[in-house]
Amino acid sequence: MSALVEATRRRRAARLLDSADAQRAAARVLPRGIREYVDGGSEGEVTLRRNARAFEDVAFAPRMATWVDEPDLSTKVLGTPIDLPVLTAPCGGMRLVHPDGDLGLATGAARAGSIHVASSAAGYTLEDIAAVDGPQWFQLYRFSSQSTMEHLVGRAAAAGYSALVVTVDTAVAGFRSRDYKNGFSYSMRVNARNAVKLAPQLLPKPAWLIRYLLDGLPFEIPNTAEVTVDGKPMVLTEMTKGGAGSHSPTWADFGWLRENWHGPLVVKGIITPEDARRAVDAGADAVIVSNHGGRQLDGSPATLTALPKVVEAIGEHAEVLLDSGIRRGSDVLKALALGARAVLVGRLPAWGLAAAGTAGVERVLENLRTEMVRTMRLLGCPAVADLDPSWLEAA
Ligand SMILES: Cc1cc2nc3c(=O)[nH]c(=O)nc-3n(C[C@H](O)[C@H](O)[C@H](O)COP(=O)(O)O)c2cc1C
Repeated sequence: MSALVEATRRRRAARLLDSADAQRAAARVLPRGIREYVDGGSEGEVTLRRNARAFEDVAFAPRMATWVDEPDLSTKVLGTPIDLPVLTAPCGGMRLVHPDGDLGLATGAARAGSIHVASSAAGYTLEDIAAVDGPQWFQLYRFSSQSTMEHLVGRAAAAGYSALVVTVDTAVAGFRSRDYKNGFSYSMRVNARNAVKLAPQLLPKPAWLIRYLLDGLPFEIPNTAEVTVDGKPMVLTEMTKGGAGSHSPTWADFGWLRENWHGPLVVKGIITPEDARRAVDAGADAVIVSNHGGRQLDGSPATLTALPKVVEAIGEHAEVLLDSGIRRGSDVLKALALGARAVLVGRLPAWGLAAAGTAGVERVLENLRTEMVRTMRLLGCPAVADLDPSWLEAA
């Protein structure tokens, strides 16, 4: 990359002061269909709103008249020490957001001293993403069949991912009407007819369009490139066909997974204490309390509300992480105070990526760090390890 492009990106990134700035900057760059694919939730978007509200409904109980010199944000997840308790969540479609895509997310996470979770539906192969320096986990979908899943697990092990994250809240794709109305569909193919149809969305965003053209118009999912349908790489709608008909692995798959994956196993998409116990019984070393950022089952509770019951049920046997709705450093601290070991962020780094590529991802994670440090000083809290529910009260 030329020094000029790098300098421009750094300048753009430096303008992002918080998550709202990043979201606005992404909206300026992205065509409507891509913007709404990232920002949107399923059905009435009730869970999407609930996730955000839950963080507002919890207040801090600060300890004033104290000075904290260097708040300690470090922790360990599944044995890996990290400097920032914020991982980048697995997100499909990120190469549509920016050509840096998943490589930018992995680089941003590594530079923040954290972990990237690579998506099965990434825009780069899992091997290319694993080649980015820094600890990484691999997120697994079942796709169309047991054999596709087994194939991905074997490749993830060979590529050196240190943990496997099994997403279980995606039996079918949630209905996101904004995608439907925008003509943005997983089965879309890049061809002249679609180019004409989408022109009114694409032409007002020339910078995005030029980047996408120069990147070679990627739309397929390279991790499934070897799985062909009618001689072409499988697209996302085909992934739910065949086999058990489920996009997600089911509990029936966990026997095979536990026997054949030799590293830590993480179950993503847990909301109830019953499912959390089931995950531990199935061999999970950690669970992620997640409602997929409000993109799947609309009507799910906010993850912050669900977290304490899950921690109570399995906290002594497995690590508990949380995602869905984290926008600020104070949100991270609230989740940690309620028992999460660390959190994941999905949209926030996607917005940074859209605004300024890898530099934008680095910037939004740096903003979270700055916000956490400032909030811990205002709270009088010396280390994230000291956080517990006594630092919170109902708003
Ligand atoms: C655009 C987008 C694509 C996503 N793709 C995946 C995916 O491929 N696999 C997965 O397990 N979760 C996926 N998720 C869910 C995220 O991993 C995460 O649970 C969610 O984004 C957290 O909520 P937040 O965006 O409010 O931080 C996706 C989320 C977004 C926004």
